[in-house]
Amino acid sequence: MTVLERADNRDATSQMPDKPIETRRLPADAAGIGEAASILRAGGLVAFPTETVYGLGADARNGQAVARIYQAKGRPAFNPLIVHVADLDMADGYGVLTGPARAFAERVWPAPVSMVVPLRAGSGLSPLVTAGQDSVALRVPRSDIALRLLKAFGGPVAAPSANPSGRISPTTADHVLAGLGGRIDAVLDGGPTPEGLESTIIGFLGEQPALLREGAYVPDLPDLAVETEAKDAPLAPGQLASHYAPLASVRLNATEARPGEFLLGFGPVTGDLSLSPSGDLVEAASNLYAALHDCDARGVSRLAVAPIPDEGLGRAINDRLRRAAAPRA
Ligand code: TXA
Ligand code: MG
Repeated sequence: MTVLERADNRDATSQMPDKPIETRRLPADAAGIGEAASILRAGGLVAFPTETVYGLGADARNGQAVARIYQAKGRPAFNPLIVHVADLDMADGYGVLTGPARAFAERVWPAPVSMVVPLRAGSGLSPLVTAGQDSVALRVPRSDIALRLLKAFGGPVAAPSANPSGRISPTTADHVLAGLGGRIDAVLDGGPTPEGLESTIIGFLGEQPALLREGAYVPDLPDLAVETEAKDAPLAPGQLASHYAPLASVRLNATEARPGEFLLGFGPVTGDLSLSPSGDLVEAASNLYAALHDCDARGVSRLAVAPIPDEGLGRAINDRLRRAAAPRA
């Protein structure tokens, strides 16, 4: 099946694009980055690597371009998107960063950290980006390719992870093409993303900062409230119980494979494929999604996963694994 046919055959629950389009693979050199910036300026969709996962980018001020993100992903609802900017100065144009939020941004950015702050009045962002809320999630990524793209474009880029809604986030350009080929204009191919897990999301809206999503950055704020559990109306799709799902059923904390299972190992549990033979959480985080994509590609139907220590980055890994194992809607 070609990527174009695949785009046509997506499940009926997702919104179909009008017609499959050619998805170009652009090299992550000056010419490729320039081309990607032109596509963004023209209101197109470009997937690009960040240090966490590939994002599906559009001009955050262009409502039609942002709407195409939802269409391409088959996202069921208009959830708010992270706005990527080149630096704190640019962030100031879209959000209000004062007091502890400003100090934190100055200390950590560029980083795999998204900050939810009050939306600046007259920001010019499409209301689709913020889902009509008066807050905005902003991020200055650390990835050199992402930063070069943001500077070349010179504006805010809305970018959720570049995968069909509810599926595993992409950590390579091939993952992006397998999921969204035929639905987006281009993917900037910068090779595998180093961190491999989405950014940590921290809210700076109330009295004290709140952890909204575990992620690639392990927070060190002493007064951090934890609000990562799904609410009635989840703020973040990453908070939905069944998210980041591979095709296989998933059993956690497995020290050995039961008959018919494919075992994903860690440390002493060797498995059929190991997230990190040496038990290194950073390595396991960066391998996690590629391993799940690999299981999909191998046609694994029953997946077991070795125990991962629930500390540091292990907390974000376990969060994603629990969601992968959750009953599917
Ligand atoms: O690492 C990442 O964060 C990647 C790369 C591309 O930057 N992006 C990513 O985007 O994971 P996405 O759409 O898959 O997740 C963004 C999360 C969502 O769960 C969304 O609901 C939350 O950020 N979010 C965005 N704006 C928000 C807001 N104003 N308040 C609360 N949550 C918000
Ligand atoms: Mg996502």
